[in-house]
Amino acid sequence: KFIPKYVNQLVVPSVFKPFVAKEPSTGEVLSHNYTVFITTLKQQLLPPRFPETFVFGYEGIIEDGSCSSSTPGPTFEAVKGIPINVQWVNNLTEPHFLPVDPTLHWANPNNIPSPDPPFLDFPPGYPLAQSPVPVTTHLHGGEVRSDSDGGPDSWFTAGEEKTGPSFVKSRNNYPNQQEATTLWYHAHALGITRLNVFAGLSGFYLLRDPNNDIEPLLPSGPFEIPIVIQDRSFNEDGSLLFPNIGVNPNVHPYWVNDFLGNVIMVNGKVWPNLNVERRQYRCRFLNGSNSRFYNLKLSNDQPFIQIGSDGGFLRCPVELNEILIAPAERADVLIDFSRLDPGTKIIVTNDAFAPFPGGDRPDPDTTGQIMQFTVLDTPPVRPVRLPPILNNIPILIPDAPKQTLTLNVVREETEPGPRELLLDGQKWASPTSELPQVGSTVDWVLANVSAATHPIHVHLIQFQLVSRQLFDSERYLADWESLNGKPPLQHPTIPLDVEPYLIGKPIDPDLNEQGWKDTVRANPNEVTILRLRFTPQNVGSGDSKPGQNLFPFDPTFGPGYVWHCHILDHEDNEMMRPMKVVSGPI
Ligand code: C2O
Ligand code: CU
Repeated sequence: KFIPKYVNQLVVPSVFKPFVAKEPSTGEVLSHNYTVFITTLKQQLLPPRFPETFVFGYEGIIEDGSCSSSTPGPTFEAVKGIPINVQWVNNLTEPHFLPVDPTLHWANPNNIPSPDPPFLDFPPGYPLAQSPVPVTTHLHGGEVRSDSDGGPDSWFTAGEEKTGPSFVKSRNNYPNQQEATTLWYHAHALGITRLNVFAGLSGFYLLRDPNNDIEPLLPSGPFEIPIVIQDRSFNEDGSLLFPNIGVNPNVHPYWVNDFLGNVIMVNGKVWPNLNVERRQYRCRFLNGSNSRFYNLKLSNDQPFIQIGSDGGFLRCPVELNEILIAPAERADVLIDFSRLDPGTKIIVTNDAFAPFPGGDRPDPDTTGQIMQFTVLDTPPVRPVRLPPILNNIPILIPDAPKQTLTLNVVREETEPGPRELLLDGQKWASPTSELPQVGSTVDWVLANVSAATHPIHVHLIQFQLVSRQLFDSERYLADWESLNGKPPLQHPTIPLDVEPYLIGKPIDPDLNEQGWKDTVRANPNEVTILRLRFTPQNVGSGDSKPGQNLFPFDPTFGPGYVWHCHILDHEDNEMMRPMKVVSGPI
């Protein structure tokens, strides 16, 4: 059925209200404390007069003192230097309402053995296999100890009756020592992240630094808008539609390699409008979609000024006519409406191929449009003049041997779709092979031998993108396989240097990637080099030594971390690996 656009008004998510713990004698603020419930609710995602939609969301006390539940969840307003503790409570007591695929690696609370094909005997979605729904919550981009990281195996069901193999606790601690930036939180339980995030489990976590001198110059209050873009599909009755026919149904009855919705939802409303005053706005864009990339443009060809990336302010503001964001990437952007006539309507458009980059262009009438700005009749306010330098970004110098890692897809000639996607040819369950030493700086050389762009995300740290370069991926893959065998491999691989396969010159990161990143696009037929320093972000160049722990916690403690592709459908089907920070050299 036809869904009218720009009837919904954009909603800014409400803000969680903390319980502030103070030092009794001095009154110094010690921590901000929250209790957040993971719950079900009905929300008007579609325009008025359409049915409400059953979703998962987050519930807690918000700023006006009331209790509120929504998707996206209410926003955490975090202050640098003040730790946050969140007691996460799973209140999901029913079977999953989306098609859980029991043939993947998955959070399996009832220890149901994976069924063998043909999958004739179980009901669509196999939901009872996962009753109740396990959940864990990860702070994406957060510098946190691993037992607060909400990793894929630390899930728990309602009442914590059943827990995953890495579960330690449900009250997580976020030190907030890193740079001010746009973080976000989302569900992360093994093998069902795509379903739980699609169902509604994500929200913003805005970290602010009262001592930062750029922040006060920027549009704030009602002129600062967090914007999460998520594609969705709906049934006639308004319920969420997630495919329950797999791309390779002989192997995985329900799993699809790239979920793509045909409707765009922004902050929990389909195709919203935002009325704006004639002044500059700060829009914090987040791609919270399962697998859709967006190439954002303004319909009046006006440029964006990007000031921040995933992990903080860029070194310099960058003027851009379009911004490409992959799942989990953020773009902190200024848009100036001060010179536009009242009544002007601007549409944020999208022309990114889906899947990216080998798929189709989006339909200009549906997924080619994201949201609309309508300029109000208000007195124009001049935009700020930004200083030329926004941030001091330290230069990282590698002091550990580089690691070459492949991005693979496993496909059988006889099968219609991929079987799984792999990092370095290994499954999630193979022994941990990424064992960085605390304090060290290492280059990860990612050789993408698949046909898709994978947004690669590493937990615990903000890192830097060094370069991308074309390479002969076919010849590389053939030689790599003759060395290692055909994936999946059940052991750390023998690395194969990419050097002899490189083509042309290394390409610098885009201007808006020249800052702190926690998620980077690794394109097909390219070698992407990430520089990772296992030290807090706020440490200066050269001030970190291998073996030296400068984190305010012990990163070697607890169940460890993960790195993965942030296309949730890939992450849920093996494109995720454990990572353990170690104290001594390995
Ligand atoms: Cu945004 Cu491991 O996740
Ligand atoms: Cu991927």
